Amino acid sequence: MKNAVVVYSSKYGSTKKYAEWIASDLSCELFEKKDITAKKLKQYDTIIYGGGLYAGGVNGIQLITKAFDQIKDKNLVVYTCGLADLQDPNNVQSIRKSLNKVFTQEMQDNIQVFHLRGAIDYSKLSTVHKIMMGTLHKMLLKKDAAARTNEDNQFLETYGKSVDFTDKQSLSPLLYHVKSLY
Ligand SMILES: Cc1cc2nc3c(=O)[nH]c(=O)nc-3n(C[C@H](O)[C@H](O)[C@H](O)COP(=O)(O)O)c2cc1C
Repeated sequence: MKNAVVVYSSKYGSTKKYAEWIASDLSCELFEKKDITAKKLKQYDTIIYGGGLYAGGVNGIQLITKAFDQIKDKNLVVYTCGLADLQDPNNVQSIRKSLNKVFTQEMQDNIQVFHLRGAIDYSKLSTVHKIMMGTLHKMLLKKDAAARTNEDNQFLETYGKSVDFTDKQSLSPLLYHVKSLY
């Protein structure tokens, strides 16, 4: 697909894996966020940005929010990649809520957002991330079991393990949306 680009920011590889699948399916260009500038982004008609979820925030989303005024006339797609179970509407709602803290109303109206599920391997986490996850784990253990949300329980179940929910099929809605633009 001409004039489309996939840009990603990925710490442990899941968002990158999705970016590669998208770029391969659409036959379009692929960049890691650090290798592309807002000026270069402007050359494309369709911009797909993917970032991993970290404490609710989308890794590297500033590339899109800062460049928005220059690229708002383009087809804009953002995908998030996180561990939360997307079958649970509360999880999707909470991702959207966090995203809308950094998106203006105009961004919300102009950017099509998709959510994908990633992976985690605790043995490969950076020291800072291990500490963050360890702190959250301790907090959740102290929380009354009846007050824990599904997301809390899932965190506790997967804590310390290696799990991978990446799924090529889950890209279908995003790919369908992008193809329908042409
Ligand atoms: C410190 C930390 C915080 C995280 N916060 C969230 C979160 O808020 N929501 C979520 O769904 N996943 C969260 N995750 C899981 C990551 O989003 C998941 O591992 C994802 O696959 C990362 O993608 P990447 O490796 O491409 O950066 C977190 C992981 C770490 C290590």
